[in-house]
Amino acid sequence: MRNVLVTGGAGFIGSNFVRYVLEQDPLVRLTSLDALTYAGSLDNLKDLPDPDRHSFVHGDIRDLETVTDVLRDHRIDTVVHLAAESHVDRSILNPAPFVQTNILGSFNLLEAARLAWGREGVIPSGSCRFLHVSTDEVFGSLGADDPAFSETTPYAPNSPYAASKAASDHLARAYVRTYGLPAIITNCSNNYGPYQLPEKLIPFMFLNAVEGKPLPIYGDGQQVRDWLHVQDHCDGLWRALISGRPGDTYNFGGGVQASNLEMVQRICSHLDQLLPTSPSCPHASLIAFVADRPGHDRRYAMDSTKARTELGWGPAHTLEEGLRETIEWYLQNAAWIQALRSQPSYEDWLRENYEMRESGQ
Ligand code: NAD
Ligand code: DAU
Repeated sequence: MRNVLVTGGAGFIGSNFVRYVLEQDPLVRLTSLDALTYAGSLDNLKDLPDPDRHSFVHGDIRDLETVTDVLRDHRIDTVVHLAAESHVDRSILNPAPFVQTNILGSFNLLEAARLAWGREGVIPSGSCRFLHVSTDEVFGSLGADDPAFSETTPYAPNSPYAASKAASDHLARAYVRTYGLPAIITNCSNNYGPYQLPEKLIPFMFLNAVEGKPLPIYGDGQQVRDWLHVQDHCDGLWRALISGRPGDTYNFGGGVQASNLEMVQRICSHLDQLLPTSPSCPHASLIAFVADRPGHDRRYAMDSTKARTELGWGPAHTLEEGLRETIEWYLQNAAWIQALRSQPSYEDWLRENYEMRESGQ
């Protein structure tokens, strides 16, 4: 039986990963460690398949003692590290929590794993794994004709979020080289799918469109992203854990690039079909161009050749089907989305983000 710790298990990707693994492998026991910040919710972990194989610990990765206790008490041999401050816009408004959680919290986890797994001075690389989950944003911004990011692209982060993720990737790499920690790093592109917090592009635009509110596109909306369905990402993470080589990195991308404006137009046309009697039809009439995100990266694209050839991975969702299914999921889970958006932190966030754009800072 493998004992897996999922940090950030109550977040978007974490909760999808917990579901995925419970369905995928009956020989795994999972523990989610999550501080339940504004981004985490126990609602995301309701109705799990085979829930007896999952336990939840409310705790903060910034606290080394908490992390050490969890590794010991739950006999953890595998860490999937997803807990993070994850939203670029928030990192521009207030970078401090990004440094604390993404850098210091990741350091605590690496250190706790080194101490727990290397009791005899030697880490048993055959039985333990540390999967460090990172992002395409560490590579910076591509020009229109540049080749996609590969595992050897130099790091050039542009936002406080991306810089904090890059720092934690470097720490994970250093723990492999210095201590022999069997860590694997994965970098992936923008995820979408069920349980995504409604301040990120797709659920945010969905909610605003359904409510007849403006759809704020930053800058000219021609920034290009490589969209990956969260279940395809979870499949990649699991394959990297089972078949990846410790010390290696793997890139995951959906292989479909679209501009932000195009994505919002796609959301609007799905809603026009799904809600034909809405007074907001055509929903694209709600699109409004607003001040750009400072330091906004122009284009991301991922070359996933290594994951395809070495892990046998490939996305199962097309963007067209995946987006439609996601929008239908949000429509069917109105109670879930309302619970999240009625938190005071969500209203505070909307106001602060709006004020930042109004002031042009
Ligand atoms: P999310 O914001 O939805 O979830 C993050 C989770 O971490 C939340 O449940 C939150 O409560 C928890 N958390 C935050 N600070 C914590 C702390 N100090 N201690 C314990 N728990 C804490 O994020 P996500 O979109 O699910 O992203 C998960 C990971 O994947 C992050 O590391 C992110 O950088 C990476 N990633 C995300 C995407 C994406 O498109 N969403 C793409 C590439 C990489
Ligand atoms: O690229 C991977 C990254 O994708 C992950 O590492 C991050 O954790 C994840 O949050 C996501 O990055 P962003 O934080 O930039 O995602 P967001 O959904 O906020 O924005 C996606 C794009 O849409 C970005 O170019 C900004 C634009 N955007 C976003 C919002 C919320 C708008 O134009 N208008 C908006 O209102």
